[in-house]
Amino acid sequence: MTHILRIQGGQPLQGEITAAGAKNSVTKLLVASLLSDKLCLFRNVPNIGEVKITVDLCREIGSKITWDQQDKTISIQTQELKTTYIPQRYSGSNRIPILMIGALVGRTDESIIVPTVGGDLIGQRPVDLHTHALEKLGAKIEYRVMKTEGAYLASAHHGLKGTTIHLNYPSVGATENTLLAAVHAQGVTTIHNAAMEPEIIDLILFLQKLGVYVQILPNRTIQVQKTCTFHEVEHTVPADRNEVASYAMAAISTQGRVMIKGAHHLPMLSFLNALQSIGGRFRVFSDGIEFFYDKPLRGGVHLETDVHPGFMTDWQQPFTVLLTQAVGLSVLHETVYENRFGYTHTLRFMGADIQSFTNCLGSLPCRFVHQNHVHSIVVRGPTPLHGQEISIPDLRAGFAYIVAALTASNETVITKNADFLDRGYEDLVRKLQSIGAQIQKEALHPLCHAPI
Ligand code: UD1
Repeated sequence: MTHILRIQGGQPLQGEITAAGAKNSVTKLLVASLLSDKLCLFRNVPNIGEVKITVDLCREIGSKITWDQQDKTISIQTQELKTTYIPQRYSGSNRIPILMIGALVGRTDESIIVPTVGGDLIGQRPVDLHTHALEKLGAKIEYRVMKTEGAYLASAHHGLKGTTIHLNYPSVGATENTLLAAVHAQGVTTIHNAAMEPEIIDLILFLQKLGVYVQILPNRTIQVQKTCTFHEVEHTVPADRNEVASYAMAAISTQGRVMIKGAHHLPMLSFLNALQSIGGRFRVFSDGIEFFYDKPLRGGVHLETDVHPGFMTDWQQPFTVLLTQAVGLSVLHETVYENRFGYTHTLRFMGADIQSFTNCLGSLPCRFVHQNHVHSIVVRGPTPLHGQEISIPDLRAGFAYIVAALTASNETVITKNADFLDRGYEDLVRKLQSIGAQIQKEALHPLCHAPI
């Protein structure tokens, strides 16, 4: 804990910002670069905590990295693997260590040891789909209890062999891990029911530049051929669709108008539809998207999160804040993670009228229908929001609280875990200030955690 955030709400956001590079792309691209010994240059790299962790992880195993933060570029080359042991201190740091297995298992005879998976506290976040797919390719994966936490040991002493893999759910991470491992697997690997998120497509484009023969086939199918010869790559990280949606919702919830330079239209399609359904406005330009408030938002909508091209699960938290400002009853059904409404407790504390349900309040029952998890909510709006002292549970909920705080009429203080936001939002405070938000970062004393 390094700082708190003090936010005075009630001010419409106005102005222009530029979208940062996508967190969920750049981190995977850095890991994918480990497949080869060639130099890779990434442009439009965001300066966020998740990139720092990934850079540290790659350096740990021997990558030579130059990160020019002014220029927003990272060059990375991994000619030799110094170690294949990812230390326990990275346990729970993010979702990247597990992907190291896919990138490295076909490149070395050594066993790869990675700590258990971390990330946001939004559900169990199992890795069974990753391990099943890697085992089908011939990797041996073992889970071991270490001193404090567990670790996965992975090896493919007899090499990997291409095969047909059907993912029971189109998991983003499992698709990425399988894709990476398939690059070093003998022959052809076919992945059925693969995730098709824009970040996966971007990874595929990167792999093609690297020299991999990879095809996207109908019905969520990806096919990869073993590759031994790689090329140097230059790749620009696409705009972060989560960051774009986050600022768009902050603009509309505060009844403002914000142009987001660099925002792409296609990955925002379902978000824009959802926004339009409640009366939020936007204009798409060749160099970005402008979001603006025009007249009172209409509730009465039913929204379901889903895998791409559906409404993304990372968008639902700030969207819930928008629904608290929309007239009528709206229903949100989370079908991707079983436990992603914990943050609504704080929104209620701030004045929102939100009811939670364990049922599937949706058109079709989802995977969690018989599991008794709170995964549907009903939001009644509009309700005024009141600033409070609050703490942040995870990254996207954190931004939802920022939107709520900017919408509230008085002051909100984020007293705990404000630094979670730095994991995924580049230059958050400065960006928000540049569009008129009254938000201040106050450093905390390192020992007593009181404001300095
Ligand atoms: C990625 C994104 C995250 C986004 C999510 C869904 C990154 C760093 N994070 O997360 O922002 O919310 O995609 O779009 O890219 N599952 C299993 N077994 C597995 C793997 C996943 O059951 O082995 C389940 C998960 O518990 C979850 C669902 O599948 O319920 C989706 O997970 P997944 O698509 O893998 O998400 P991430 O890759 O972790």
